Amino acid sequence: MTRPNVLVTRPIMDDPLARLRERCDATVHQNEFGIPRDELLQVVAGRDALITMLTERVDAELLAAAGPQLKIVANHAVGFDNVNLADCTAAGVLATNTPDVLTETTADTAFALLMTAARRVGEGERFLRSGRKWIWGPLMMLGQDVHHKTIGIVGFGRIGQAVARRAKGFGMRVLYADAIQLPPDVEDGATRVELAELLEQADFVSIHTNLTDETRHLFGHEEFKRMKPTAVLVNTSRGPVVDEAALADALEAGEIFAAGLDVFEREPDVHPKLLELEHVVVIPHLGSATVDTRDAMGHLAVDNVFAALDGTRPPTLLNPEALTG
Ligand code: DGY
Repeated sequence: MTRPNVLVTRPIMDDPLARLRERCDATVHQNEFGIPRDELLQVVAGRDALITMLTERVDAELLAAAGPQLKIVANHAVGFDNVNLADCTAAGVLATNTPDVLTETTADTAFALLMTAARRVGEGERFLRSGRKWIWGPLMMLGQDVHHKTIGIVGFGRIGQAVARRAKGFGMRVLYADAIQLPPDVEDGATRVELAELLEQADFVSIHTNLTDETRHLFGHEEFKRMKPTAVLVNTSRGPVVDEAALADALEAGEIFAAGLDVFEREPDVHPKLLELEHVVVIPHLGSATVDTRDAMGHLAVDNVFAALDGTRPPTLLNPEALTG
């Protein structure tokens, strides 16, 4: 019996890869900057399954290049804005993501950015390493308190709720903006408000929405003007939710105090002005980047591939309408 033929578009953790290889012939693309599109369109040909990253666009062109034997595209990320689900469904290809296993880790990252930006940790580190003369001073590098302040969570899904749990530990009041009102046990003390009210009241705004046509540039000049001049913005969702040029302008004009960013509008590029501003903390899309979580994401992607190869429902299927039989 021939073994299924799988392409993994970037190196993943050893354990899930070893599991995949027990049952499939798996090619792992080694280019650390990802596969150039024209090459990707060639190397997908004839594969039964693809494990893709958020850096690859999965659309009708790619699915056609893979061929009719392709059963599943298992995206190794919770976000799936790189995957055109309608195209997958039209091609009869299952699409999956890796939710849940990265929730707490991504919430940790959001909180780390929040604390770092509020308390000027990055700036302090750069200052100290620069070797400049200093001595403790009562007015030196004053930041914003985190404890007992108000956090506004935009998008109150799994990760947003996990951030809220952390915020409660800091005695914070939690507001959230979401398309739906969540049941009281899920709200767990958080209050749903309109986005405009959240922006006006929150000392910290943490973004946890998916990237869709509706959320692209959800944060622009108007939204920053509504925020407090002492407010801190944190984004660990997707870069294009924020108009980066508008954010840079708002920070420069003192419309908000600071920003902590894990994701960028034109990744891997970062708006050059943001890199010049001391009150901006930037990290290279590390939201779920821990050993345990990347292991778990790899295993979940492999579980999804195996289920599709077995003709059963993958655990985290995004397009059930593509299931046949
Ligand atoms: C995701 O999973 O969507 C993150 O952005 C990368 O881990």
